Amino acid sequence: MANKFRNLSSKLFHLARSSFNRTSVRPRMSFPGRGGFSVARPKLWGALGALSGAAGLLIYALETSVDASSDCVHPPHQHWNHSGLLAALDKESVRRGYFVYKEVCASCHSLQYMAYRNLVGVCMTESEAKAEAEAITVRDGPNDEGEYFERPGKLSDHFPSPYANEEAARSANNGSYPPDLSYIVSARKGGEDYVFALLTGYCDPPAGFALREGLYFNPYFSGGAIAMAQAVDNEVVTFEDANVAASAAQIAKDVCVFLKWTSEPESDERRLLLIKVTLMSAFLIGISYYIKRFKWSTLKSRKIFFIPELEAQAKKEAKEAAEALRKAKEQECNKCENKNEKQE
Ligand code: HEC
Repeated sequence: MANKFRNLSSKLFHLARSSFNRTSVRPRMSFPGRGGFSVARPKLWGALGALSGAAGLLIYALETSVDASSDCVHPPHQHWNHSGLLAALDKESVRRGYFVYKEVCASCHSLQYMAYRNLVGVCMTESEAKAEAEAITVRDGPNDEGEYFERPGKLSDHFPSPYANEEAARSANNGSYPPDLSYIVSARKGGEDYVFALLTGYCDPPAGFALREGLYFNPYFSGGAIAMAQAVDNEVVTFEDANVAASAAQIAKDVCVFLKWTSEPESDERRLLLIKVTLMSAFLIGISYYIKRFKWSTLKSRKIFFIPELEAQAKKEAKEAAEALRKAKEQECNKCENKNEKQE
């Protein structure tokens, strides 16, 4: 009896194993769509792709046609030292640009978002910046007696504005407002290319161009007529460094680099951070890839076959075998009983 049972169970085991081993080809699995996104809709995705491509083309065409029909000349692209992902601002140029701003532009334009302390460590030492700040007078107060008083500037003071308010600025400039230059490079299309072209682009108006009194012709300014007179010319300033020629182009370039810095004072730090983050994440990604492969290797190299049809078949066969076993047992018992009865 026990022998029979062992035979049967080992037969069952072999049967099940052979049925699992029989085929190495997995049946095709299909995942019925459960709503939501499905990869099995190529037409929909194709249509969506074509639509967004067409929308992109339309926007591009509109942008270029509007650009082409604008009422000014496009500023040519200059090769700035600071353009490019790994380039820093030319700090000597920033320093010269500060002096150009102070000597030329500060008489009309404010730079209200910059303070003297911002210059420290960028284009000046602390004592130089202090000396610059002390050259201005600041209205401060009230003091202990409730009086307002004037004092020399401190590092924490912002650059002084040439006019008390916008109205005063407008009345001094024929009704036009000289904008604050702190963020002008970021605020204008073309950035420093535009400002450079604007400063160096003054010329005679073409025949038939009617200029109003107090306006000047500049092809880079929208409309061509600007209220700012030509501010940059050869030798309007003298540089500390005698080796740098004070040509109009040099002066305009330096003030543009300075204004680029005021627009994005953190640009150098940002680029430095980019280099650091790229290097560190390359290292960390490499290590985590290795660790992931290492930790998952046991799981990844394990084979698990799940073949529903074969499992069902094996179950069926096991059931049949169990049934056969039960019948065999029953017969044996019947025989025993018969024997017993006979003996009796
Ligand atoms: C005599 C006063 C005066 C001086 C000096 C001056 N500007 Fe201007 N600036 C103006 C006025 C006024 C406007 C407004 C022009 C307009 O809206 O028509 C202006 C406008 C500008 C604009 C904005 C143009 C735009 O697209 O709206 C920039 C940039 C600019 N100036 C840069 C400078 C720089 C840089 C300097 C120094 C090198 C300088 N300006 C010197 C009076 C001046």
